Amino acid sequence: MANVVVVGSQWGDEGKGKVVDWLAARADVVVRFQGGHNAGHTLVVDGVSYKLSLLPSGVVRGTLSIIGNGVVINPWALMEEIDRIGAQGVTITPEVLRIAENACLILPLHSTLDQAREVAAGKGKIGTTGRGIGPAYEDKVGRRAIRVCDLADDATLEMKVDRLLAHHNALLRGLGAEELNGDDLLAELRALAPKLLPYAEPVWLTLDTAYRAGKRILFEGAQGAMLDVDHGTYPFVTSSNTVAGMAAAGSGMGPGRVGYVLGITKAYTTRVGSGPFPTELNDAVGDRIGERGREFGTVTGRKRRCGWFDAVLVRQAVKTGGIDGIALTKLDVLDGMDELKVCIGYELDGTVIEHLPAAVAQQERCVPVYETLEGWQDSTEGARSWAQLPATAVKYVRRIEELIGAPVSLLSTSPEREDTILVHDPFTG
Ligand code: IMP
Repeated sequence: MANVVVVGSQWGDEGKGKVVDWLAARADVVVRFQGGHNAGHTLVVDGVSYKLSLLPSGVVRGTLSIIGNGVVINPWALMEEIDRIGAQGVTITPEVLRIAENACLILPLHSTLDQAREVAAGKGKIGTTGRGIGPAYEDKVGRRAIRVCDLADDATLEMKVDRLLAHHNALLRGLGAEELNGDDLLAELRALAPKLLPYAEPVWLTLDTAYRAGKRILFEGAQGAMLDVDHGTYPFVTSSNTVAGMAAAGSGMGPGRVGYVLGITKAYTTRVGSGPFPTELNDAVGDRIGERGREFGTVTGRKRRCGWFDAVLVRQAVKTGGIDGIALTKLDVLDGMDELKVCIGYELDGTVIEHLPAAVAQQERCVPVYETLEGWQDSTEGARSWAQLPATAVKYVRRIEELIGAPVSLLSTSPEREDTILVHDPFTG
């Protein structure tokens, strides 16, 4: 039986929530494998809207949900989210939620550092969510992070807090900021331990058992391919690998078990935060797309930058992430436009190229080469079959498939779950 990984194929915010929910309803286990509470997924289940940041989307339906070792966990934000969802009538217990005992924690000092750095960077800022994601991953690879399992052993915790603060207080001194007191942090972590530890376990073992029992596993990615720390528009990226390959390492499963890779792809492009964006539209068309698509961040409320569909970027994401098929979302936002542009290459210093180069300075000089397609006046909103789509809309979708080198598995035509055209079921083929 195939498992499925859902990843973003652009800069995040591709509309993963609806697709993940649709798949989660049919999965036995849902796993988050990277990122943290910088993600924001809105799920609408039976007419009720749930905003999730760190909890895997399966929790709302009571499906076994796992936060893998590749995720950085802000335990206070997690407890708040559990309480918030609890107030909506969804009780989260260790029966439903399991947390990797080897996952690293995001501490208050990480978000403080994240925000201080952004202020210090001025115009050069990355435009992070300010949640401490980058500094927490730095401590992880620096081998000084506090992990979930450390909360169970007070002597280790004390020693690790000391070691961590030796590093961070040196940084704070350099920034001219007040140094941190280890006793305060220790007290906070000790108070947290009994709340978090009941959820902690070797999740790789749980996943192995589920896999051997033939259970359907859904890996829920956050952000998008162009925010990947290796394959994205570095340094204007998040600090984790967002490509499907991370699902294996970030949960403790072998790559052969990960299964079908579904890339969520929006019918146009958006980006939050700074960094190169070749097809960005700083004009009335961009504003119109932003308004019709309600392009405001779920986590930070920031206005998203909008632009034409960039087939070069998505083709690159298909290759770097091994995307087998895409779920195309928000086609209805383009309804009523006379013509649409799709980027098919870039002109860089007089030469046309067919990929985004790695250097930011070159990315910034890339001028999109556009193909113009006829728009459609009829509404595509709520369509549930190809026959309900205007012929020019079908042409637009077919051209996208051709340009990116991957088929549309699923076409979403409104936030409603039923407004979906299914071409290929990622679980059953
Ligand atoms: P960080 O992940 O908070 O460090 O932010 C780094 C970059 O990733 C910034 O450009 C953010 O706007 C972007 N980012 C992080 N999480 C998301 C997300 O869930 N959707 C879209 N962009 C995101």
